[in-house]
Amino acid sequence: MNQGEPAMPNPARTDEHEARIAGLLGRMTVEEKFGQLQQLAWAWNTGPGGGSTGAVEAAARKGLLGSVLNVVGAANSNAVQRIAVEESRLGIPLVFGLDVIHGFHTTFPIPLAQAAAFDPEVTRTDGEVSAAEARSNGIHWTFSPMVDVTHEPRWGRIAESPGEDPYLAARYAVAKVHGYQGDDLSAPDRVAACAKHFAAYGGAEGGRDYNTVDVSEQRLRNLYLPPFEAAVEAGAATVMAAFNTVSGVPAHANPRTLTGVLKDGWGFDGVVVSDWTGVQELIAHGSAADEAEAGRLALSAGVDLEMVSTTFVDHGPALLERGELSRERLDDAVARVLRLKLRLGLFERPYVEVSAEITAPGVGARAAAREVAGRCMVLLKNDGGALPLDATALRTLAVLGPFADSGDLLGTWALPGAPEAVPVLRSLREALPHAVVTHAPGVPADGSDVSGLPEAVATATAADAVVLVVGEPSEISGEAAVRSDLGLPGHQEELIRAVAATGTPCVVVLVGGRPLTIGDWADQVQAVVMAWHPGIEAGPAVADVLTGAVVPGGKLPVTFPRTVGQVPLYYNHERTGRPYDPAVPEEKYVSKYLDVQDGPRFPFGYGLSYTTFDLGEPALSRERISVRELREGATVEVTVRVRNTGDRDGEEVVQLYVRDPAASIVRPVRQLRGFQRVRLAAGEERAVRFTVGAEDIGFWTNDPAGVFTLEPGEIHLHTGNSSHARAHRTLRIT
Ligand code: GLC
Repeated sequence: MNQGEPAMPNPARTDEHEARIAGLLGRMTVEEKFGQLQQLAWAWNTGPGGGSTGAVEAAARKGLLGSVLNVVGAANSNAVQRIAVEESRLGIPLVFGLDVIHGFHTTFPIPLAQAAAFDPEVTRTDGEVSAAEARSNGIHWTFSPMVDVTHEPRWGRIAESPGEDPYLAARYAVAKVHGYQGDDLSAPDRVAACAKHFAAYGGAEGGRDYNTVDVSEQRLRNLYLPPFEAAVEAGAATVMAAFNTVSGVPAHANPRTLTGVLKDGWGFDGVVVSDWTGVQELIAHGSAADEAEAGRLALSAGVDLEMVSTTFVDHGPALLERGELSRERLDDAVARVLRLKLRLGLFERPYVEVSAEITAPGVGARAAAREVAGRCMVLLKNDGGALPLDATALRTLAVLGPFADSGDLLGTWALPGAPEAVPVLRSLREALPHAVVTHAPGVPADGSDVSGLPEAVATATAADAVVLVVGEPSEISGEAAVRSDLGLPGHQEELIRAVAATGTPCVVVLVGGRPLTIGDWADQVQAVVMAWHPGIEAGPAVADVLTGAVVPGGKLPVTFPRTVGQVPLYYNHERTGRPYDPAVPEEKYVSKYLDVQDGPRFPFGYGLSYTTFDLGEPALSRERISVRELREGATVEVTVRVRNTGDRDGEEVVQLYVRDPAASIVRPVRQLRGFQRVRLAAGEERAVRFTVGAEDIGFWTNDPAGVFTLEPGEIHLHTGNSSHARAHRTLRIT
């Protein structure tokens, strides 16, 4: 069950809007209708008037343009908008879009990091701050949230995703849509959201971006679609089509997903926008013979607005004339675009107030980004209480590594021009004023230069403790940034081993946009923190966690494999007929590798704290429930007691997983169906309650018509603090 997310009104469909749409449709020429379905790109933010090749202005002036992406700045936005509103025949305003993925001026932690918070509030905060900054700069629409579930850490866009679990991703999607849109899209601090990429983009074979996705109906519907349905239910104003095929049919030309599932099935009345030249790429896919066919396939399948390529405008009128496109489909697509603009209030207020433009991160925005970043960090190891650092006893701290004094901690999709991150070195010096804080980079983030190793070793030797900041630069994370190896780039592992060999207690802070393979170097250091790409307030947030000002409580939203050879490796997997049993490691004919220990380095849902927690056995409000009762909305309450058994206040994420041990379609060994991040004072105990209903217990079958089934039998309800949760109760379904 959704965890009490406020029911936000979908952008209401008003009679007044629909009447204005009908009026405009009656006045528009065929060319103007196809023009409304065109989105062009502004040459990135090169100042008023000079930002475009002129194509944007020319099309706007002719009334043959519906939207522009990448126009940034109130002055630029107003300059382009004025052409459409005051110089075109019908004066229909443009809608301006931009990839505001995890921040505009104020860059928040990457989405994968936000998922690690297991706290949708952090994502809503990102959405609200980003929307206010973006809208004040003339942006009406963000191409976010990306809600592609993925089991592929090689895929660079895992950084942009909410991870490997559909339930967590759905909570993330709802929070982001609410944060961006609020309950009034026309407000000056809100933007339209865009759930992307529809659908199953995260299933790209080999993790290679844009690659083939061949997926069963049940996996499409049980794994990839739930976050999109949640986003649509939350009122997402738009959806973006995915670059990949879905079982042989490109997502941009897939009527079953775009129209059958999204529009007819879920009642989505917003705009489906193509991805960048995604329509034209139907030719490369081998789906369309030429641009005319690409446009026909995409528009007929359910794409409403074409990003950058121009097949709709170039070939639409002739296709319509030849009866190869339906007029109803054309009018429906135009209506959706006009409806978006009406919901945004653009007909009444097409221009943005330049004097209200937010031009830099505010104090409050930075504070929010810092708090969010601290909540996203995951403590993977902490031997002997190495953390938090003892600020009073620490005399000399060596802060080493290529990312120690780096501003490159924003991660993928940080906007060009967004202020760099505050470096960790600076923040640790500020947080530890009584300590001597030394620094040496050791080795570069990548490349073969190891000449700095001796200096780093000497600096570590002379210190009481070491903080080693290593990981991935932003440039090898994100779109088209696919890695065949998940290790630390360059000679960073060599740096860790050399520093650990000095015997000085060492804390490793990992930065990056994906699960990294953490080798046996982790056995040689005292503590490891996964900080992800933490955004603009990276330094202060890392210092907060390392000094204990913030007690880490994040959990992994993705599995960390031991080696890339295990990929795909994920917690919500099927059991197989020959599961590996760690109690019988010598068993040969089971599903395992010969050359690597079974299972992940760190599992989904895992994360430590500076205190300890004890979770009791789950208790159920009832032991039996019938399919009929479930279908009528009856639920079961699961209660588990959690106690802070340590001497520090802290936060634990209590997790609820379901398992169906015998079903008509084999079900995953665990499926997350609830989580609550609870703050407990030292010694405090609390009962945590979850509600389980039909949508938590049932599953989609392989029926292409879309059948959600509930079956008699058993459901095991597991509670714990990671996906390795073992304590469970059995609920009998009759
Ligand atoms: C990119 C991405 C998409 C983004 C769009 C516009 O290729 O796939 O997520 O919104 O183009 O920049």
